[in-house]
Amino acid sequence: MKHKVAIIGCGGIANQKHLPALANASDRVEIVGFCDLIEERAIKAAEQYGVPGAIVCTDYRELLKREEIEIIYVLTPNVSHCELSVAALQAGKHVMCEKPMAATTEDARKMLDAYHASGKLLTIGYQNRFRPDSMALKKLCEGGELGDIYYANAHALRRRGVPTWGVFTDKEKQGGGPLIDIATHSLDLTLWFMDNYKPATVTGSAFYKLGRTLRPDEQGNGMGPWNPETYEVEDAAFGFVTMQDGSLITIDSSWILNSTEERCASAYLCGTKAGAELTGVGGSNNEKLYLNAVMANKQVKIDVNTAAGGVDFFPGKKMDAKDVECAVWLDAIEGKRELVVKPEQAFVVTKILDAIYQSARTGRQVVFD
Ligand SMILES: NC(=O)c1ccc[n+]([C@@H]2O[C@H](COP(=O)([O-])OP(=O)(O)OC[C@H]3O[C@@H](n4cnc5c(N)ncnc54)[C@H](O)[C@@H]3O)[C@@H](O)[C@H]2O)c1
Repeated sequence: MKHKVAIIGCGGIANQKHLPALANASDRVEIVGFCDLIEERAIKAAEQYGVPGAIVCTDYRELLKREEIEIIYVLTPNVSHCELSVAALQAGKHVMCEKPMAATTEDARKMLDAYHASGKLLTIGYQNRFRPDSMALKKLCEGGELGDIYYANAHALRRRGVPTWGVFTDKEKQGGGPLIDIATHSLDLTLWFMDNYKPATVTGSAFYKLGRTLRPDEQGNGMGPWNPETYEVEDAAFGFVTMQDGSLITIDSSWILNSTEERCASAYLCGTKAGAELTGVGGSNNEKLYLNAVMANKQVKIDVNTAAGGVDFFPGKKMDAKDVECAVWLDAIEGKRELVVKPEQAFVVTKILDAIYQSARTGRQVVFD
């Protein structure tokens, strides 16, 4: 029997990632329901990806009533993740929710509580964990090759990379700008590599200097001009996080910054035995993994061939990140493996990002109990 899946939010990420990934897994799943506030989007997705007679609606509660639906995908703007995921878990569905888990720690806590009470699975769409370079680095970290990792930088800088579709610059619907949107990926990766989910203190700064002032003809934005009059979120935000064991993570994120750098979902790790640099996506040196070490008393930078044996989830199979994400999610539902992106981990990502915003607002350090 195939798993019956329904989609809430048939916009960018649905069409770029989840619908094609589910279509590639059509031997295991069928998409039986599509919901979007903009009905034409649900109709179009149903025509392209749905079973004949798939449900099309604009109110997600119609999908939750249907007993045959086992899995719900929450692919809507950030602020709605909590309401929709909690309702779906309470209706007895497994939930794949897009990143970030939620816009605030309070909402993420509600999702975690609903997950624990439901007996169902909840995961978050951090597909960067499933890139070959990320999986290879995770394996090196697990094998102790870096030693004790005590300094890391979670990196997500765009020079001019404001998303101009959807509601990304709307503070109320997204909860923030580049910090919540792209630093969420690099921080998720960094915590996962370090396997350290115990932050002690957070200090942050956020800048609102350019998004509201640059005119369309002076923006040079990679995704077309944004409207400065409706730009409500930060241009860039930075964080300094100490962990309970004394290690340090710095976080940088921007959509608009006069920097020459351009790379996201990237991380830099320094351990007692070696360091590692994951170049990430978006720059001129995409998805590369380097190890920094000293061998035979010489400083070396090793270009790791991540195509060779780096992928441990599906040895021998070449799949891209979205397909691996989908496959490990379905495996977890079938009880074949543990969840890879655990809600408790995604919760800590949201807790740290929320604290950076809080520190930036108040000018004070946030100290966790
Ligand atoms: N994993 C990634 O790399 C990645 C990349 C882009 C976006 N995202 C995430 O995906 C989410 C959506 O982003 P997007 O780019 O697809 O935005 P989008 O605006 O293109 O699509 C969102 C869709 O949700 C619909 N919608 C909003 N509220 C709804 C509701 N209550 N019920 C039904 N439909 C509703 C909208 O009409 C829209 O069609 C965001 O949380 C974003 O952070 C993740």
